[in-house]
Amino acid sequence: MASPLSIPAHRPGSAALPLSGASAASSAQPPASPSLALQRYSWAVVAYNVLVILWGAVVRATGSGNGCGEHWPLCGGTMVQHWKTVASMIEYAHRATSGIAVIALVGLVAWCWRSAPRRHIARVFAATAAVLTFNEALLGALLVLLGHTGTDQSPMRAFWLSLHLANTLLLLAALALTAHFLSRINGRMRGGVELTHAPLAFVGLAATLCVGVSGSLAALGDTLYPAHSLAEAFAQDFSPSANWLLHIRWIHPTLSFVAGAWILFLVIRTRDAGYPALRAMGNWVASLVGIQIVLGVADVLLLAPTWLQVTHLLGADLLWIGLVVLSAQYCIRPIGCAGANSACAVRARADARAQKPLAATTGA
Ligand code: HEM
Repeated sequence: MASPLSIPAHRPGSAALPLSGASAASSAQPPASPSLALQRYSWAVVAYNVLVILWGAVVRATGSGNGCGEHWPLCGGTMVQHWKTVASMIEYAHRATSGIAVIALVGLVAWCWRSAPRRHIARVFAATAAVLTFNEALLGALLVLLGHTGTDQSPMRAFWLSLHLANTLLLLAALALTAHFLSRINGRMRGGVELTHAPLAFVGLAATLCVGVSGSLAALGDTLYPAHSLAEAFAQDFSPSANWLLHIRWIHPTLSFVAGAWILFLVIRTRDAGYPALRAMGNWVASLVGIQIVLGVADVLLLAPTWLQVTHLLGADLLWIGLVVLSAQYCIRPIGCAGANSACAVRARADARAQKPLAATTGA
């Protein structure tokens, strides 16, 4: 699998590492890997969902959320559209592309059930993604039906939007983990893996989730109360008469620096595990933290134009997916493969030195 996010690639017939202890016997004959087509499809579903999410940001940034009136799922109460406004086109496109995402997900779950063995971990995450997709549709519908769209300034809009963003990130995580485990060579069956360093990764993931939620509130503030100059934007932040969304805008960059520092710490720790695959993914994640901070600063300086909001959200989604995959590679390992001196790690390093890129990923 060539995806940069899926370092442990599958090649039919590739050898699995012998695992130590009791697990060795049970893992000596690993079940056949899901087909390359399914692996590719699962990553395509991840990519497609990112596109749908980005279009959702366009809906918010252009104030088009009420483009279909307070109707859901029909647009303006009808199936056949007359495209009266640009807003209705933007909102309708979001609904249509989200509908396709649901169909794509149903296909993924069905294919997983057909091709992946019963105890395959990808099945668990595919089922989780199905539940989260249902939530996503429900939260999107509630935003529309409760009127939390367009120029609505009620505090409950911020509440529902935060839930929506959190659910979006969890959905992306479930999809990325489905694709990751479908693409793994080893450590993909329930009962054949162990959890290690979980608190370290969990704190990084939770902090990034909070950064995302605080970012969606900053984005809502920028959309509802646009400033026309940097000086005006700063004055808004401190003005007693300004909306609370503007008063809490500082939380997002502050949290992002704290979360960024934790993520870099996690990346350094993953290097100690001794797997070249972890090192490569860690480099991706660390670079994305830097890119996000640059984009965020540019967002503030340029007063958050729509194109930059979408780019910043793309960076956030990629960072999130990278962090989720890195955490899975680091924390969910085949039994006996956790330590830097485990047989798996030693073998992976030897393979990498011998320039066998496929084998180097074994056990990650
Ligand atoms: C780890 C780093 C960061 C992540 C993961 C992140 C993530 C996000 C997310 C998910 C949004 C919401 C986008 C939307 O709903 O459309 C957002 C918005 C925003 N972020 Fe960040 N951010 C990061 C760093 C920063 C930094 C360092 C700054 C400023 C110095 C910043 C400034 C902003 C601004 C102004 C917005 C609102 C405008 C927009 O949507 O782009 N961000 N961020």
